[in-house]
Amino acid sequence: MRIAMIGTGYVGLVSGACFSEFGVEVTCVDKDADKITRLQQGEIPIFEPGLDQLVKSNAAAGRLTFSTDLNTAVKQADAVFIAVGTPSRRGDGHADLSYVYAAAEEIAQAIDEYTVIVTKSTVPVGTGREVERIITKTRPDAEFDVASNPEFLREGSAINDFMRPDRVVIGAETDRAKEVMRQLYRVLYLIETPILFTAIETSELIKYAANTFLATKITFINEIADLCEQVGADVHDVAKGIGLDGRIGKKFLHAGPGYGGSCFPKDTLALVKTAQQYKSPLRIVEAVVDVNDKRKTAMARRIIDACGGSVNGKTVAMLGLTFKPNTDDMRDSPSLSIVAALIDAGARVQAYDPEGMDEAKKLMPDVIFCTDAYATMEGADVLAIVTEWNEFRSLDLARVKASLSTPIIVDLRNIYSPNDIEQAGFEYHCVGRPAMARSTSQ
Ligand code: UDX
Repeated sequence: MRIAMIGTGYVGLVSGACFSEFGVEVTCVDKDADKITRLQQGEIPIFEPGLDQLVKSNAAAGRLTFSTDLNTAVKQADAVFIAVGTPSRRGDGHADLSYVYAAAEEIAQAIDEYTVIVTKSTVPVGTGREVERIITKTRPDAEFDVASNPEFLREGSAINDFMRPDRVVIGAETDRAKEVMRQLYRVLYLIETPILFTAIETSELIKYAANTFLATKITFINEIADLCEQVGADVHDVAKGIGLDGRIGKKFLHAGPGYGGSCFPKDTLALVKTAQQYKSPLRIVEAVVDVNDKRKTAMARRIIDACGGSVNGKTVAMLGLTFKPNTDDMRDSPSLSIVAALIDAGARVQAYDPEGMDEAKKLMPDVIFCTDAYATMEGADVLAIVTEWNEFRSLDLARVKASLSTPIIVDLRNIYSPNDIEQAGFEYHCVGRPAMARSTSQ
């Protein structure tokens, strides 16, 4: 089998490399000639554990190539995956599909023999049909089918998510298209991964419904965390207590500063817009978007309150800037809103992140970036933990205390035990757990 992957962003690159690992011949195509040259030299533009090795070994085996030549790649392919960006449109929050439609037109011009055109990017319901319409209009003679195959990859564990997914969702409506898709995922059939064939619209909606449900789960536990603080309950125990119910499940019940990243913020907003457009509003999701936005700035307030109500002229040490660990992605990271609010309030912010600082430097011009966690704390009035990188989980507390000018920690990811921190002589603020350590969890 041979495929062309159009777009070498996060989804395209990971999916292309993983398909080649399955034994498929893959050409990853991008208009950015510079990026393609760098990929040809083995340089990976994103940080994703294991991806460099996967690209290197499959490129060496000749199964994975990179090219700017869409025409040739499409002509040789059994299936063409559209994995270009679908950013939120400025102003109205709808997904911007101009890159998807431009790719569809270019692909149409190149088709020679029967080809399956697959949308891999997260696209609103109806996009597959529109792609079909564009291809038919551009090339009425072309023999093709359209399919939808959303990805459920998490940054930081994307390769494992692709290789051992909970399920694969395929929107395909002809036997011929289904057969091509089945062949591509043959390796997963062998390990008995559930593969769900649906209508194209259904597959498109599954992706949004999945991400929106997870974002709702996080937002729910975040609000429960706020309530826990008021009534003296412990959100970890509440999460465990409800999560053990198989109908609810344990995952995505970790309270924190709000969800960020390249998917949840964009996808929740796009689904709200789609629902409004079809006059079937999703009021729960509208509330989720609103609560999550406000939560990010509320976290800055929490740091300010920990400093006695004002950070004017004070120094805040911030550990972690990316939206979650094991990524260099800063998109919609809670740290962006937190830093902006702290700077507005007159604080001086010193920060460190293991992978995100190159990107953060472009987005946070007022922040002082430090070389490691301890340098960040030097002389600071408060330490705020914003992303739960492993290296922040076992800090030398004596050293932290000696470095800070006041021993206050605001732990927005609850990575420490209130008992341990308070015993080490800190004033400890966290999320949804009583200040006085009553907790039995941790
Ligand atoms: C997500 C989906 O999980 C994935 O299936 C989809 O393909 C893309 O979007 P990703 O954005 O990589 O993946 O990150 P994820 O691990 O899901 O976390 C998203 C955000 O939610 C992060 O900001 C994270 O910190 C936050 N989160 C997650 C919580 O605050 N609490 C949790 O319990 C889980």
